[in-house]
Amino acid sequence: MEKKITIIGAGNVGATAAHWALVRRLGDVVLLDVMEGIPQGKALDLWQSGPLDGYPGKMLGSNDYADSKDSDVVIISAGLARKPGMSRDDLLAKNVAIVKSCAEEAVKYSPDCVMIVVTNPIDAMVHTAFKVSGLPKERIIGMAGVLDSARYRTFLAEALGVAARDVNALVMGIHGDNMLPLVRLANVSGVPVTDLLSAEELEQIVHRTQTGGIEIVNHLKTGSAFYTPGLAAIEMAEAVLTDSRRVMACAAYLEGEYGISGYFLGVPVVLGKNGVEKVLQFELTEDEKSALQDSVDSVSKQMAATGL
Ligand code: LAC
Repeated sequence: MEKKITIIGAGNVGATAAHWALVRRLGDVVLLDVMEGIPQGKALDLWQSGPLDGYPGKMLGSNDYADSKDSDVVIISAGLARKPGMSRDDLLAKNVAIVKSCAEEAVKYSPDCVMIVVTNPIDAMVHTAFKVSGLPKERIIGMAGVLDSARYRTFLAEALGVAARDVNALVMGIHGDNMLPLVRLANVSGVPVTDLLSAEELEQIVHRTQTGGIEIVNHLKTGSAFYTPGLAAIEMAEAVLTDSRRVMACAAYLEGEYGISGYFLGVPVVLGKNGVEKVLQFELTEDEKSALQDSVDSVSKQMAATGL
């Protein structure tokens, strides 16, 4: 049977995700939004690339959740994006209401889906979707680590003068300024970057990664990044739909892993048909533990602000 993927929110991130879902042949796609005409127009445009691209699936734009029925994966990207001067937390109140309604409605029609939350602030929004959807913890995943790790890898590759795909690096924790790009584990085809770059260079790269989102907001002025966020969500969806067991940094619900309980936080996970199949754990240094605790403290404040 053809897989089905619903993307809620036909803005820049949602439409880009729909495009990547088509390119990656993930299955039939429903692009859903409350705005009349926008999902229909964008989906129609994407669908018509079929003869040129070879995409064999269906691409439907809709304002009706009934069209999302029996989706294997639901991506929530609806909500407001940042403008210059705004932190991700400034979006919280408005986006809680939006994500709450998206998650409630989506799960009515796709009770067995895996839900991927992209809306900012991601760590609070994934908590919101978890609370209102009633989905088991492994079926709710926040997108952030894949994007943040991609940024980290890009900057490392540039400094090293190597192909970005050969750089392996992990960003854990919150999708915010105190995210934790792990330096000691970053490597290029197995060679530690700490042996190739100076501490100063690495510090600059870590800082640029942590502020990677706002760097783009400050250029765009009218919104935030969407090409790589859209692809990052599809990278996760593909791993679920194909049961590939790929390992990615995702916001997963923790129950004792890394000594943390009751929070969604960016950690390396194995993705498969059930969503988060496993959280991979390893020993952190004291500094890393303390940085991860800073993330927990920030996420905890965000969670309280959701009122859920
Ligand atoms: C970013 C936004 C999407 O990091 O949070 O670009």
